[in-house]
Amino acid sequence: MMKLKTTVFAAGFIALASLVSAQDAQECTNVGVEDFFDLEEAQVVDVYTCLEAKMADGYAKEGDEVGSSFRDWTVTATRAAVQGTHGGRLLLTYANDVAAEQYLTFAEENEMPVGSVLAKESISLSKKKMTARPGPLFIMTKMEAGSIPETDDWLYGGLQPNGKPMKFKQAFCHDCHSGWAEQDNLAYPVEEVRVSSGG
Ligand code: HEC
Repeated sequence: MMKLKTTVFAAGFIALASLVSAQDAQECTNVGVEDFFDLEEAQVVDVYTCLEAKMADGYAKEGDEVGSSFRDWTVTATRAAVQGTHGGRLLLTYANDVAAEQYLTFAEENEMPVGSVLAKESISLSKKKMTARPGPLFIMTKMEAGSIPETDDWLYGGLQPNGKPMKFKQAFCHDCHSGWAEQDNLAYPVEEVRVSSGG
């Protein structure tokens, strides 16, 4: 009898606990704005913290190499930030070991080494519901010199929030990124959040 009571109690407690945490999660993605530009810095940090684990789990779900490892790379900004492009999402870019030092110079004339990979996680906003949710992981990989002349040897890729590959034309990404041709087609995070290369 005693044992049964304990089990019932435990089950009830677990149900309650998961209800509370589901509610918490809902509240912390409830941003109450139609545009990420309207969030204060602290709110941006809160939204990111709220979705941080969910994003990483999602990108890694199908075992993609970048999706499973980018969080161990060098983070290039002090926090996620909205720039306006990429669907007005909150953005945070990571650079792999090959790319990190050169990327963090944020040089106006740049040339990234072959094997550089940049992975940029994103948070999407539903205007209607005013809620935030994981967005795609955008990826750029610098291939062998001369291998893809149309894109200056960059290969554009992406993962959906569920870890499945995104489908798009290379030109869709490159037509915009080529606007930063001098910087090796990199646009860099907005200035106020850039991590300085000095560390
Ligand atoms: C309309 C312009 C535009 C389009 C289209 C675009 N990007 Fe970007 N991208 C940017 C800007 C601006 C940044 C820097 C903003 C930031 O990270 O805060 C950026 C940053 C990036 C970065 C981080 C490296 C960097 O440039 O500093 C990656 C990776 C990336 N984009 C991948 C993609 C992929 C993949 C696509 C296509 C699916 C794409 N982008 C389409 C404008 C664009």
